[in-house]
Amino acid sequence: MILRAAIFGSAIAALARTAKAAQPSAAEPVAAPMRDLRWGNLNFLHTTDTHGWHGGHLQESQFSADWGDYVSFAEHMRQTADAQGVDLLLVDTGDRVEGNGLYDASSPKGEYYYDIYREQQVDIICTGNHELYQASTADQEHLQTVPNFKSNYIASNLDYIDPESGNRIPMSQRYRKFQTRNQKLDIVAFGFLFDFTGNANNTVVQPVKETIREQWFQGAIREQTDLFVVIGHVGIQMRVFKDIFAAIRQQNPLTPILFFGGHVHIRDATAYDSNSFAIASGRYFETIGWMSVTGDLKRAANTPFSTDTGALSFQRRYIDNNLYGLYYHTGLNLSTFPTEHGRNVTAMIVKARKELDLDYSFGCAPKDYWMSRTPYPHEDSIYTWLEKEVLPAVAVRDNRKDIPRLVIMNTGAIRFDIFKGSFTRDSTHIVSPFLSVLNYIPDVPYRVARNVIRMINNAGPIASSLYDMDPRFMGPPEQFEIHEPIIYTKDNNNNDNGRNDREDEYGSQPAQKPLGGKERQQSEKKPTLVQGYTTRDDIGTDGDDAVHAPIDFYTVPNCIQAEVGFAPESPPETVDLLFFDFIQPWVLLALKYSGGSYTNEDVELYVDDTFTELMASWIEENWAEHCKA
Ligand SMILES: *[C@@H]1O[C@H](CO)[C@@H](O)[C@H](O)[C@H]1NC(C)=O
Ligand SMILES: *[C@@H]1O[C@H](CO)[C@@H](O)[C@H](O)[C@H]1NC(C)=O
Ligand SMILES: *[C@@H]1O[C@H](CO)[C@@H](O)[C@H](O)[C@H]1NC(C)=O
Repeated sequence: MILRAAIFGSAIAALARTAKAAQPSAAEPVAAPMRDLRWGNLNFLHTTDTHGWHGGHLQESQFSADWGDYVSFAEHMRQTADAQGVDLLLVDTGDRVEGNGLYDASSPKGEYYYDIYREQQVDIICTGNHELYQASTADQEHLQTVPNFKSNYIASNLDYIDPESGNRIPMSQRYRKFQTRNQKLDIVAFGFLFDFTGNANNTVVQPVKETIREQWFQGAIREQTDLFVVIGHVGIQMRVFKDIFAAIRQQNPLTPILFFGGHVHIRDATAYDSNSFAIASGRYFETIGWMSVTGDLKRAANTPFSTDTGALSFQRRYIDNNLYGLYYHTGLNLSTFPTEHGRNVTAMIVKARKELDLDYSFGCAPKDYWMSRTPYPHEDSIYTWLEKEVLPAVAVRDNRKDIPRLVIMNTGAIRFDIFKGSFTRDSTHIVSPFLSVLNYIPDVPYRVARNVIRMINNAGPIASSLYDMDPRFMGPPEQFEIHEPIIYTKDNNNNDNGRNDREDEYGSQPAQKPLGGKERQQSEKKPTLVQGYTTRDDIGTDGDDAVHAPIDFYTVPNCIQAEVGFAPESPPETVDLLFFDFIQPWVLLALKYSGGSYTNEDVELYVDDTFTELMASWIEENWAEHCKA
């Protein structure tokens, strides 16, 4: 069913006036040629890896709508679904916390976030790794978000350890069986987390390979159902989803299986076979993912793939989260779009931002600094700025300030670009959300210490280490692409029925890079296009709802290094080797391979402040002057 033609609208002409963004200081959205949403019988809106950005992106017009606007949007979309007799479900796949002042700036963290987030009616929701790094975050997840979403919250492979009793209990129910509102479609839904091992000790993540052998799972995949929905904090190209797919498919040769993933922060879609479909919907509340399935879902499970009559079609769209687009997709405008509930949520966010003083300014950036839009090194690279200006100035310890040093920072410690203009309290949490500190080993022979950065960045011997020690964990998640094959057990080879045709057609393309790529052509004829996502996924190049000019994407090394207190041409005998605490295991391993035998016992804290605090004080001292202009 197509409620709108799936062609470009002449939406630019329709932009009679600019849309007013929801948070008062947010940038106004800019018009772009639009691709319509194609409605089907079953439709989904998907968020993932929102990382506290529920107030929207105040400095980026194309992502400037807030959680209140999403509440309004979902309300209108549900009405449309009801009016058409089709169904709409909302999905969220975790990492809702850490990465924005709206979550991180309060003490304890999340003082406002839980109440804001719960205002959206999310139908299927699960946990990400960021909900689990700190024991206190996992506690709050269990005490607040799980009850807030009651029967909608699924934890297929996650347990929680009750602090009172010490008992290990499921974080929430293992799976959910329910019926859609309008068509009464039976759905069996699961909620997974990848095989994460960095969690605090009050949760237990069960490896997915074990979960799918559990009796409850084997029972669930034998339930009578019209379709399976697997949501997970899992990259859709990762083995984990493919193992789950193979296990369900083994019991259900024809039943549609829909996957909603995340974690790798990219827009992506694929099909594991012709009756399955998978989508990943980006990061930081930049994207609202749209998936729709058209066809007779009640019959699909019993219809052979080879006949046209039962064939389903799957669509995906990556909606840029701004009011211009949300108005466009609902056919509404400034006066008709915001619902009372949506306005209330926007007001809650305004109040929280105010009470957290997120607009407090430490100084003003003299220009934009990019993570991946420029190469490294480069004068506009955020990493060059850190290496040349910030690290040498902040990595100073009173009683060792005259000792030459190497300072190694993992590039993944930085999570966002810096835009020209005010650098606020919010910016500190956005750019550097982690509580990283600088550790050091004193007096390391320079000939040993100098090898560490090369070894960490070029992998070499340390690349062959265990999965937990994958050097890619040190870099930005956007660079962490994984393509793993589906492995069928021999039992399900006999269900083949030609359903791999589609795989051959789509399966061989690489996943898209997060923000367009150097090699990508500007497609479609253009008015002046604003830069933005130009996604290429396994389905094609028409996924983004707004047509944008591509943005350059350059990969960066796992780590950068600042050399402080000596000239490269006259290297010292020994140096203090400083590094972010997060990368300590890799540094120790690299030292070992360079002939230096050090253990955790040799490591000390270099300065008390977190890196985020050090960076904020550097900005206060050095960038205040730029605000006067
Ligand atoms: C978890 O770690 C904390 C802090 O290291 C410790 O106090 C506590 O006893 C540990 N709990 C369990 C169940 O191991
Ligand atoms: C919004 O649309 C309504 C109904 O079509 C119209 O009456 C109203 O003038 C529009 N408002 C704005 C601000 O464009
Ligand atoms: C919005 O907030 C007002 C004032 O607090 C309240 O009376 C009303 O019930 C709220 N409406 C919705 C739909 O949440």
